[in-house]
Amino acid sequence: MATGRRENHRENVAGRANVEDTPELLAYYDELEGLDAGALWTVANKIEPWQPKSASVPVLWRYEDLRKHVLRSVELVSPEKAGRRVIYLNNPGRREHAAAVGWLYSGLQVMHPGEVASAHAHSASALRFIMEGEGAYTIVDGHKLTLGANDFVLTPNGTWHEHGVASDGTPCIWQDGLDIPLVNCLEANFYAVHPKMQQDVGHPVDDMSHSWGAPGLRPAGAEWSKGYSPLLKYEWGPTYEALQRYAKASAGSPYDGLLMNYVNPVTGGPVMQTIGASMQLLRPGEATRAHRHTGSSIYQVAKGSGHSIIDGKRFDWTERDIFCVPSWAWHEHANASQSDDACLFAFNDLPVMHSLGLYREEAFGDNEGRQPLS
Ligand SMILES: [Fe+2]
Ligand SMILES: [Fe+2]
Repeated sequence: MATGRRENHRENVAGRANVEDTPELLAYYDELEGLDAGALWTVANKIEPWQPKSASVPVLWRYEDLRKHVLRSVELVSPEKAGRRVIYLNNPGRREHAAAVGWLYSGLQVMHPGEVASAHAHSASALRFIMEGEGAYTIVDGHKLTLGANDFVLTPNGTWHEHGVASDGTPCIWQDGLDIPLVNCLEANFYAVHPKMQQDVGHPVDDMSHSWGAPGLRPAGAEWSKGYSPLLKYEWGPTYEALQRYAKASAGSPYDGLLMNYVNPVTGGPVMQTIGASMQLLRPGEATRAHRHTGSSIYQVAKGSGHSIIDGKRFDWTERDIFCVPSWAWHEHANASQSDDACLFAFNDLPVMHSLGLYREEAFGDNEGRQPLS
């Protein structure tokens, strides 16, 4: 614990720092501070916790509460002035980083028919998950992708991209997910506005889905060596069908039900280098066991209703609600319906955890894997 007028995180455990303050040491610390230095033993126990200590708190953002505010932003600001008209999810523990959880950013963006946002590129990797409306599209490096509810689309690191809604469409709302906080933490973020503000579409509409979207089939001779998936869009129809078929073949995971990862069809790995994504199906009445792992996740309820228990706290959710699970937080999910399945979309920073060798997972061993409610 911190004592006196300066930090001194002591722990009475063998192998951990436990140096009591003395007038002589306090004077010594002052001298070190004057040299922009410090004594490690005063902060070692803080900067090297026994296990991950997330600053993020579990939060559920109810769509019913947020939707009207998202729609109201249309009256208040234009996409031209705002750049992107987005209401972002601001975790109470991560406000200084504008993060929804951990090092992940998320927000809800709205566009009206005929509106187009300016084309831009950034070092942060981004995704969108369509919540409602018709006629939305995204253009990524000249590839135009048409989007419907529960479609998942990538706008990877460094790509020129812009969003819009067709003039004969309806108001559209989608969830954005980015690794902005991570890229900023690594001090590696660049942003550029397209010189022409808008891109030309250089390929047949939805060409990447038509080329790379068939399961188990790869176009002969097609080369792809970029660090992200060429299948820039993952449609809801085939995704849901894949989960239903998987349910016929597998009992799934005790912690996640039937979970399938969206993958890069070239590598079988995550869709982007820093962000992974999945869709999971909870069968009628299914309640999973709790586990925890490193890495942060943001979920959106794509279908159905139920609840999740995160670090002992229950969060009831229904379609379109969004919630987060901080790194190393216990979590379990339950489908409330006895007759219908529930589906959870999620994106996460697991590719970072895996590629840096930081992934760890643990099952909740007591009480048959169910957390006591706090
Ligand atoms: Fe962007
Ligand atoms: Fe999990």
